[in-house]
Amino acid sequence: MIAGGMKNSVMTAQRPRIAPLATGRVLEVGLGSGLNIPLYTSDVDKLYGLEPLPALCSRAEPLALQADFPVELLAASAEEIPLDDNSIDTIVSTWTLCSIPNIEQALVEMRRVLQADGRLLFMEHGHAPDENVVKWQERLAPLFKSLAGCDPTRKMDRLIGDAGFRISELETGYFDGPRFLAYHYVGEARPR
Ligand SMILES: C[S@@+](CC[C@H](N)C(=O)[O-])C[C@H]1O[C@@H](n2cnc3c(N)ncnc32)[C@H](O)[C@@H]1O
Repeated sequence: MIAGGMKNSVMTAQRPRIAPLATGRVLEVGLGSGLNIPLYTSDVDKLYGLEPLPALCSRAEPLALQADFPVELLAASAEEIPLDDNSIDTIVSTWTLCSIPNIEQALVEMRRVLQADGRLLFMEHGHAPDENVVKWQERLAPLFKSLAGCDPTRKMDRLIGDAGFRISELETGYFDGPRFLAYHYVGEARPR
């Protein structure tokens, strides 16, 4: 999805639910233009911002430089995270899991780099529970994949659970906006 679109009023209002909860060595997956960076607190020791698109890394740089903690930008994909096993305390993902081509592999990688007592904090849109909404999600998926690289049909809780996580907190429901994009999964998962 394009960076400008990540700043709409709904997203801006919802963002502060996730990043402020991160502690220790933090990995943000799909950093984008870095809109979460100002929301992290002094509980962060170091932030690794993983982002495969160089143009977005460049946009995140000024925010990274202003942070009160060290920020290392990783120009890489979540399917192959350039970090050691068990080296991260918190992983943050906001509106990213819909965009990663091999989401199963990426979640296995996240599990690998996360400490046994670490947390994956997520806010993601995905597969809705209502048949009429799912019909539109499935119809529009090819268009969204080609235009924005985003798959609106993913069952986020199932994907996260299948990768070796246990969901410890989960809130689901529709945010404001077009219903085929508005059903969200917000929560926390821990290694099983
Ligand atoms: C909709 S944007 C969300 C950006 C950011 N997380 C935010 O909250 O503003 C999706 C992000 O996922 C990133 N992305 C796409 N494929 C990826 C991959 N294989 N590994 C990591 N990030 C990826 C995109 O480059 C983009 O930054």
